[in-house]
Amino acid sequence: MDQVTVLAPATVANVVCGFDCLGFALEEPFDEITLRKIDKRDVRISHHDDFGLPTHPTKNVAGIALIAMLDSLNADFGFEVEITKRIKPGSGIGSSAASSCGAVFAANSLLGGRFSSNELIDFAMEGELAASGTKHADNLAPSIFGGFTLVRSAEPLDIISLEFPPLFATIIHPQIEIKTAEARAILPKDVPLRAAVRNWSNLGAFVAALAKGDYYLLSRSMEDLIIEPARKSLIPKFDELKAESLAAGALGGGISGSGPSVFMLSETIEIAQSTSSAMHSIYSTTGVDFNIYISSISPTGVRLAQ
Ligand code: HSE
Repeated sequence: MDQVTVLAPATVANVVCGFDCLGFALEEPFDEITLRKIDKRDVRISHHDDFGLPTHPTKNVAGIALIAMLDSLNADFGFEVEITKRIKPGSGIGSSAASSCGAVFAANSLLGGRFSSNELIDFAMEGELAASGTKHADNLAPSIFGGFTLVRSAEPLDIISLEFPPLFATIIHPQIEIKTAEARAILPKDVPLRAAVRNWSNLGAFVAALAKGDYYLLSRSMEDLIIEPARKSLIPKFDELKAESLAAGALGGGISGSGPSVFMLSETIEIAQSTSSAMHSIYSTTGVDFNIYISSISPTGVRLAQ
């Protein structure tokens, strides 16, 4: 096999109570990435989209991740990469993770699966480091493993795949760009102990609620006293989005990754659709363009295209 095409879905990181450690994979939207093995030690990237992302491999997260993989092999070959992005960069739904995980997953398929999932995430994390200034795997882990994941430790990697009940995500993506590095720069350097205790209590409860399929506990646990208060002013109408989504029956939600997307989780597709209508009504008055996605949770994450 000299060529492979993969579909790399969007992911939601933080999930309100799990900053930098909790995430889940969506079914859609997804990027499409085709990789070919080439004889020369090189990474050649081309884009079939209008986002104007850099194609130089050291400036592109997919290229950075593939270079890390080739370095680890001391390889005498390289890759040609064609990327069709459907996840807008800077959207807060794991656009860079989709590029880097899609690329290393595709490369691993061409190499006969010689790398473990954790090794793929380690390569992809070099891309996240370049994009955001820190090594964090909360988008990468669900991209590679699918479902809900908890990153207990990023260095060394210790990732736990979590059981989860049926859930549907409604995501509004306001067409404004928030750079992850900037959204991280405004976070508090010190955290009051009371807020920290509340957040880690919520995270433990959220994981237990997923395992038990306890939707009421899941709803109570989606609370964040540390990150959301610092970032929510970056997102127009954030408080209204949240209040009206809860009124429509959503279990809870908040900022997706570092924003500007806002996600809500619902027990049924019907409630996810009502949540979408509520979000639509609020944003129609803002003058800000937006997209809304409704998706179930992807149990697989990145996968080979059929
Ligand atoms: N956990 C990250 C953040 C996700 O919120 O900054 C974005 O990469």
